[in-house]
Amino acid sequence: MKVTIKDIAKKAGVSPSSVSLVLNDRPSRISEQKKAEIKQIAKELNYTANQIARSLVTKQTKTFGLIIPDIENIFFSSLAKHIEMQCRIHGYTLIIVNSNDQFENDIALLDLLLSRSVEGIFLIPASASWLKKTELIEKLKQLTVPYILLDRVFSDLSCDKVWFDNEYGAYIAVKYLLENGHRKIACIASSSFINGQFRLNGYLRALKEFNIPIDYNNILTGDYKKESGYLAGQKIINKDVTAIFITNDMMALGFIHSIYEKNKKIPDDYSVISYDNTIYPYLFGVELSSVKQDVKKLSETAFKQLFQKIQKKDNVAKNTCLQPELIARTSVKTIHA
Ligand code: RIB
Repeated sequence: MKVTIKDIAKKAGVSPSSVSLVLNDRPSRISEQKKAEIKQIAKELNYTANQIARSLVTKQTKTFGLIIPDIENIFFSSLAKHIEMQCRIHGYTLIIVNSNDQFENDIALLDLLLSRSVEGIFLIPASASWLKKTELIEKLKQLTVPYILLDRVFSDLSCDKVWFDNEYGAYIAVKYLLENGHRKIACIASSSFINGQFRLNGYLRALKEFNIPIDYNNILTGDYKKESGYLAGQKIINKDVTAIFITNDMMALGFIHSIYEKNKKIPDDYSVISYDNTIYPYLFGVELSSVKQDVKKLSETAFKQLFQKIQKKDNVAKNTCLQPELIARTSVKTIHA
């Protein structure tokens, strides 16, 4: 039978509320000796706290919420894993929910997490939310708990944010291709996403810096998913390019699938740099160069910022822009144009 606070109180000869105060480390007039006795009895009876009952006493649910756009994308599943680890280290539970990149789900999941009395929310907005930014911003302003935007952030909302410098990440990738002699460089962009737009800007900035005329026929649009990379690959096959900058790993998977079906090889036929650095261990025969967004650092920084808000140690909205890093491997060959 499940042990309750009343069982412990009876054995310790104190009231249930005294037991609850001691087990929740709340201030009380109970002697240290009696506190130790109560905790020992709880241990001997193998008592496990009923979190909901505990939250009624402490007004803390010790729970955070995380809304991610695509749980099947390794970048987001890895981010969720690291945020969950941070929560657990600090004695918190994390409720992870998936918006499937739908604006309506962002709104509904914010309400769902509030209904579960989470103490704070981590949000990576859905792609579609970028197009409904005003409505999402209004919703966020009404939140009754602290929240933080990660990875995909809006400049016109003053709130806690942590993201990577997307334009810089794209710029260093394309500059690397240019420094290796490539002049005809295609881009598989995802410009319907806020960070995808900045990555496209980084591509354009590098080409302009090397005085390469922009051929907009070499810019293809994807949606961060494998299928769009595959379709882009079918078009690139017919273009006169030697290198491709792909703005995320899932599309790179589709692109590689597409060109390998046509017996094209990397880097023999195309030099490739991707973004996220999440899939190279799973690729056979392709040492894929990629822009790394350190998910561990992103999650630790985001947790620290939100936790400070929860503890009311800091109520000033903090913006943290992290630097991505190019991980160069053998998917880029040097050519002499
Ligand atoms: O792969 C998904 C992409 O969208 C990542 O690059 C990440 O930045 C997310 O926003």
